Amino acid sequence: MRPILKIMEKRTVILAIESSCDDTSSAVIVDGVLRSNVIASQKVHEEYGGVVPELASRAHQQNILPVVDTALKRAGVTKNDISAIAFTRGPGLLGSLLVGTSFAKGLALALNVPLIDVNHLQGHVLAHFVEDGTGLEHPTFPFLCLLVSGGNSQIVLVRAYNDMQIIGQTIDDAAGEAFDKCAKVLGLPYPGGPWIDKLAKLGDPAKYPFAKPNIPGYDYSFSGLKTSFLYTLRDMLKAQGVETIDDLAQNVPNLREDMCASLQATVVDILMRKLKKAAADLHINQVAVAGGVSANSALRQAFIDYGRKYRWKVFIPPFSFTTDNAAMVCQAGYFKYLDNDFCAIDEVPFAKTTI
Ligand code: KG4
Repeated sequence: MRPILKIMEKRTVILAIESSCDDTSSAVIVDGVLRSNVIASQKVHEEYGGVVPELASRAHQQNILPVVDTALKRAGVTKNDISAIAFTRGPGLLGSLLVGTSFAKGLALALNVPLIDVNHLQGHVLAHFVEDGTGLEHPTFPFLCLLVSGGNSQIVLVRAYNDMQIIGQTIDDAAGEAFDKCAKVLGLPYPGGPWIDKLAKLGDPAKYPFAKPNIPGYDYSFSGLKTSFLYTLRDMLKAQGVETIDDLAQNVPNLREDMCASLQATVVDILMRKLKKAAADLHINQVAVAGGVSANSALRQAFIDYGRKYRWKVFIPPFSFTTDNAAMVCQAGYFKYLDNDFCAIDEVPFAKTTI
């Protein structure tokens, strides 16, 4: 009798690197299933009230090796198992992107494996397809994705994994930026979004009626809201005859909580109205949310409420996939790997928002 030959199928192992802003992250997908997702957040920026690009680049340099090493170990693979390396090419901070891009290129050259460039924004959208073992339900095509982060506020029409179109976007500030800047004015730590969310739970969302933009189509604007927020505080300072927000908070009960609740309600209303219009116009009833601001509790609740009211099937990511993470980059990279869509070794990072 001839011996039975056991043919060992080679596994597809994708290693991903994300370094677009202030989180160094690495993830591994083995045969389509997420095996690890390691994130090192940079605390160094807290005392500056915003991300300092040069410090971010340096911290990425310090973090990248241990983060990649941990991601491989947690996934139970070695560098010799890697089939391809995916990296975030942009948009983001150029210095930060350079660290991840250079590391990915060096490792790909050393291991003689292909490189896959991933658009960070597409990664956020494709986070909805990560197989993380929790039975996460995936949208089917076409669907709309509201992509809201510190740098972007967009409505994306997703026709396929590799076919996305921005149909509306902010003409000035992003929603997360508005949260962060208003939080700073209130004297809250950076990043302010999570603090606004927390304090808003104790405030009255109807207390301060802030200005809402009136622009056509599916585009957004948040700079007027920021000014309206600022002027409301300025007028109150004047009326109370005090100079600081702390002094004002002594005189006006629940000041910070009510300001946060009103700001959050306004941002959520602005975001959801345009999304509703896009869904109705395009006859699409599958709607997803992605990006750092998708961690906001009022926005998540609005998705549930709009879903019930307008019969949308809604997709809200787990918290671990809301902020920057390499799992989403790995997922996007895995899809490109299946399409044999690789990039050249001399590909350069890009800073500007595009999809
Ligand atoms: O996608 P992301 O992690 O990265 C960048 O775009 O850099 O988004 C970060 C943004 C910040 O503006 C942060 O304040 C905001 O997401 N954010 C939140 C919440 N959690 C994070 N905004 C509102 N509510 C939250 N719970």
